[in-house]
Amino acid sequence: MNTINTNAEDAIICSCSGTKRSQIERLFNQGMDLDEISRWTGAVSGCGGCEWDIEGLLLTLAKPADNSEQL
Ligand code: FES
Repeated sequence: MNTINTNAEDAIICSCSGTKRSQIERLFNQGMDLDEISRWTGAVSGCGGCEWDIEGLLLTLAKPADNSEQL
């Protein structure tokens, strides 16, 4: 069972490295991909249990903010 809270901005998303969601968002917004974020923070370099959570977060962040239809 995954007990990591991935929603709150200050939630630790990688318990091995102590990486917070807000750190990942900031690095993503600076143009880093998962490999670069992993090297920078240490996330995904321990048990690997956070990989899907972080990939999901990055996919969410990559979506356009406005999803309204444009005709
Ligand atoms: S929880 Fe991220 S590497 Fe273990």
